[in-house]
Amino acid sequence: MSALHLLLINASARLGVSGIHPHGSHTRRLTRHLVDRWRAVRPEDQVIYRDLSREPPSPVTAEWIDAAFTPPQRRDAGMSAYLAESDRLIEELRRADLVVIGVPMYNFGIPATFKAWIDNVVRVGATFGFDRERAEDSYWPMLPAGKRLVILSSRGDTGYEPGGRLEFMNLVERSITLPMSYIGLTETYCIAIVVREELGML
Ligand SMILES: Cc1cc2nc3c(=O)[nH]c(=O)nc-3n(C[C@H](O)[C@H](O)[C@H](O)COP(=O)(O)O)c2cc1C
Repeated sequence: MSALHLLLINASARLGVSGIHPHGSHTRRLTRHLVDRWRAVRPEDQVIYRDLSREPPSPVTAEWIDAAFTPPQRRDAGMSAYLAESDRLIEELRRADLVVIGVPMYNFGIPATFKAWIDNVVRVGATFGFDRERAEDSYWPMLPAGKRLVILSSRGDTGYEPGGRLEFMNLVERSITLPMSYIGLTETYCIAIVVREELGML
């Protein structure tokens, strides 16, 4: 069996790991557990670690938009430089067979660092195509097919699950699966835990 590439993305602002560090992150604990188990079974696979809190992706700027919407052959060196970080993040995603995301719920949605990552990797002409002339099919994914996406989330309250009383307020999974499916990641697995912490501890 050939080696697979895993891309492990952590988005919690808390750098410690629960169960190891005081007030550590539960999503980091989940991702660590998954990767430890995976490595035990498939030690030959490669894991790329992307920590969005230690190294937050740059938010989209006017210069970034100018560069991204300029066809590659017409970009100058400055424009290419503006896209260098996005290129690196996209390349990590392109190589990954399995993408594992540890993502907390912050105010019903995802952390800002993770949104910045999405905005860097969902890029016209790079990860999705767009042609207004193609009436039925004006958008199409450009990443290779067959990738799998695992979303490991944590939140402080119950009821956000499908059918739950707060389902309509849960923006976490949908705000990830929608843009990811748009660029070609359609096979998705979601697990969420509820962690009750003393407010004073947060
Ligand atoms: C800024 C912030 C906003 C939060 N918003 C919510 C929320 O809207 N709903 C909820 O159930 N929990 C919320 N929580 C609780 C976290 O989702 C919960 O503590 C989760 O375990 C955090 O992930 P982590 O342990 O990986 O850091 C919030 C926590 C923080 C720090």
